[in-house]
Amino acid sequence: MKTLIAYSTKTGNTEKVAISIGEGIENSHVKNIKEIKDVASLDYDFIIVGAWIDRGTANKEAFDFINKIKNKKIGFFFTLGAYPNSDHAKDCTKKIEELFTKNNNKVIGHYLCQGAIDPKLIEFMRKQFPAGHPHGPNPDRIKRWSDVSSHPNLEDLQGAKLKFKKLVEEING
Ligand SMILES: Cc1cc2nc3c(=O)[nH]c(=O)nc-3n(C[C@H](O)[C@H](O)[C@H](O)COP(=O)(O)O)c2cc1C
Repeated sequence: MKTLIAYSTKTGNTEKVAISIGEGIENSHVKNIKEIKDVASLDYDFIIVGAWIDRGTANKEAFDFINKIKNKKIGFFFTLGAYPNSDHAKDCTKKIEELFTKNNNKVIGHYLCQGAIDPKLIEFMRKQFPAGHPHGPNPDRIKRWSDVSSHPNLEDLQGAKLKFKKLVEEING
């Protein structure tokens, strides 16, 4: 089965997850792992798309790529700054899944984990929004910034690897 792992990354978190997924897919399956900008063809049996979350959905490069995929078997994964069990993470999952299903793709499975937020963005937020402002630093937000900074960790990477290894095995029967 020809499998493509196509991902977009700004600071490297999503790339780490993509690489781990690639390691889990057995050599016997023809596998390609590429940054989205290097994808020249969609002629694959199974396409795994990796995105990072930008303002509540897949980042633009991944978003545009997803919109080009039609009638395919799909897996997707993403990294985000919010907690993986948050309503925000659920909303992101739903939005991305809908992008695929509206073009008649079949989503076989997905995975998500946290990814450290670019320190430049944190710095910007701190400057832009003073304490007391709804987007400004407060104890919960500061804790989240700190919690997320160690992700994706080994557990996240192993989880992603196992998830897609199983999916590929299931598809192959
Ligand atoms: C401009 C920008 C916007 C972001 N928007 C969100 C968001 O809406 N929700 C969220 O949970 N994380 C958000 N994040 C956090 C990233 O999704 C997260 O850090 C991700 O792991 C980055 O992936 P990368 O290292 O592959 O670029 C944002 C990060 C940046 C830089």
